[in-house]
Amino acid sequence: MSREIPWEELFRAANDIRARAHVPYSKFPVGAAALYEDGTVLAGCNVENSSYGLSVCAERNAIARGVVEGRKGLIAVAVVVDTPEPCPPCGMCRQVMTEFAPLELPVRSRNLKGDEARYTLGELLPHAFTNRFL
Ligand code: THU
Repeated sequence: MSREIPWEELFRAANDIRARAHVPYSKFPVGAAALYEDGTVLAGCNVENSSYGLSVCAERNAIARGVVEGRKGLIAVAVVVDTPEPCPPCGMCRQVMTEFAPLELPVRSRNLKGDEARYTLGELLPHAFTNRFL
């Protein structure tokens, strides 16, 4: 985790893809960007469904792209949401992050004013259930 993270690039990617969010129900577009060890940045937006429970968050879509594209080593996640305060990732997305990154993973979130919150995955999901218990 000591490598320099290009946060501005990540936030730009997250903000850009937010425009593609499919959010006819919540009208709450979210953008996320995942950085991989090889420098690849993959972005995702939330994709909702008329069967509401099938909706998938931006963070999980970004991470799923990493799997689809064969990327290893998730090293940072950025999130952009238009909220009064920066919005942390939901619990389900935190659990999915633990599948692909250590608890030191840095996660940052910004709103459209540029306010920023910084977390590690371990702070977001203490006592995480991981494959070490299987
Ligand atoms: N959402 C995300 O994409 N990421 C989060 O971390 C929080 C929630 C989405 C899910 C749903 O499409 C909308 O935001 C409202 O909950």
